[in-house]
Amino acid sequence: MDLESLGKEVKLEIQKAASINEAELIRIKHLGKKGSLTKVLHTIGNLPVTERPKAGQLANKLKNELAELIKEKKEVIKQKKSLPWIDLSLPGRKPNLGGLHPLSILSQEIQDIFIQMGFSVVTGPEIETEYYNFTALNTPKDHPARDMHDTFYLKDGRLLRTHTSPVQIRTLEKLSPPLRIISPGKCYRVDTFDPIHSPTFTQVEGLWIDKNISMADLFGTLDLFAKKIFGKDVKTEFFPSYFPFTEPSAEMWIQCPFCKGKGCSVCKKRGKIETAGAGMVHPNILKALGYEEFNGFAFGMGVDRIAMTKHDIDDIRLFFQNELQFLRQFDDSKL
Ligand code: PHE
Repeated sequence: MDLESLGKEVKLEIQKAASINEAELIRIKHLGKKGSLTKVLHTIGNLPVTERPKAGQLANKLKNELAELIKEKKEVIKQKKSLPWIDLSLPGRKPNLGGLHPLSILSQEIQDIFIQMGFSVVTGPEIETEYYNFTALNTPKDHPARDMHDTFYLKDGRLLRTHTSPVQIRTLEKLSPPLRIISPGKCYRVDTFDPIHSPTFTQVEGLWIDKNISMADLFGTLDLFAKKIFGKDVKTEFFPSYFPFTEPSAEMWIQCPFCKGKGCSVCKKRGKIETAGAGMVHPNILKALGYEEFNGFAFGMGVDRIAMTKHDIDDIRLFFQNELQFLRQFDDSKL
């Protein structure tokens, strides 16, 4: 066999080799002591003297080339072995993106509505003193209204705020009226979890202090808010209520958006749903802060309750169980 065809044949064999062992056998078969190419090299001595150098050169060149190819092949097989097998036709894995919690989304929506009405957003601490949570809000020690809020106390006498109303006082201490603020945040009460209670919940507080503010301003503000959240056809009703820090006090109820007032399981057959507590800021509070010539209103609403009403959710615990299937329904990014 001539050198050229021998070279072609061996290259094909090298190409087909599937293991390091096979490649080594090819090396022995052709380049080893008794290998086919070695035999060719040995016969060069029989050629006429003039042809010997050229034939020797060609045979050596082929020998080196094949030795290099076998070495490379072994290297490639070795590397393939250490890499995991990849199926490039498989679709890629999408990274899981985080999304906003439904209560955060709604809280943001509520903030946007009030920002459009000229309110600014302020926040206050979740760990409060008795002074800000109760005393400064016209609720001295032994006041029976303190029992309405079952409070988590810390060892040092501070407490987890039971409502966002302490932010009213903190704001009035820092800023002077006229002012319009809302304050979203978490609150805590000693409650065991059931479908409508949770030891932690989210409120949004509102406060508007100026001169000559009336209950009509309060009703108008909350009515507009309700229409923006639940749709322009929603009906609101205000009933007298009691809070130590407002006088007079009121509750806003919205007509149940599901049964339109007829009574259903969402509104517990009442036809309406309580949505906010509110009232005119108690004169005692403004007096203590030196703002006698001002008046205004305050309100507080439960974001969890509003979310339940808006999305027809009958169990508050769903907000805290972090089940992706539940949470994905609310977030556009679909996690
Ligand atoms: N802080 C009250 C509550 O948690 C709600 C409220 C806020 C009422 C402001 C009147 C004015 O029940």
